[in-house]
Amino acid sequence: MLSQIIYVSVRNANCSDEEIQKILESSNRNNGKLDITGVLLYSRNKFLQVLEGEKT
Ligand SMILES: Cc1cc2nc3c(=O)[nH]c(=O)nc-3n(C[C@H](O)[C@H](O)[C@H](O)COP(=O)(O)O)c2cc1C
Repeated sequence: MLSQIIYVSVRNANCSDEEIQKILESSNRNNGKLDITGVLLYSRNKFLQVLEGEKT
């Protein structure tokens, strides 16, 4: 069954743009292999992420 998770979390003050680049690299490396798609929106102090994939 296709499932979605949507959540908001706090972006810590020491989470730099370089850290976000690393999250994107991990996501590109891992999510496709797991057949997961998603969106990560971020601001100075928040993340909003949508993840979608088959529930196993
Ligand atoms: C807000 C947020 C969203 C993240 N989303 C993903 C994601 O969709 N996929 C992913 O593999 N890692 C994501 N990460 C990174 C993981 O926490 C972790 O660092 C990463 O999966 C480690 O990957 P590796 O074991 O391949 O080095 C996210 C981290 C944060 C803080």
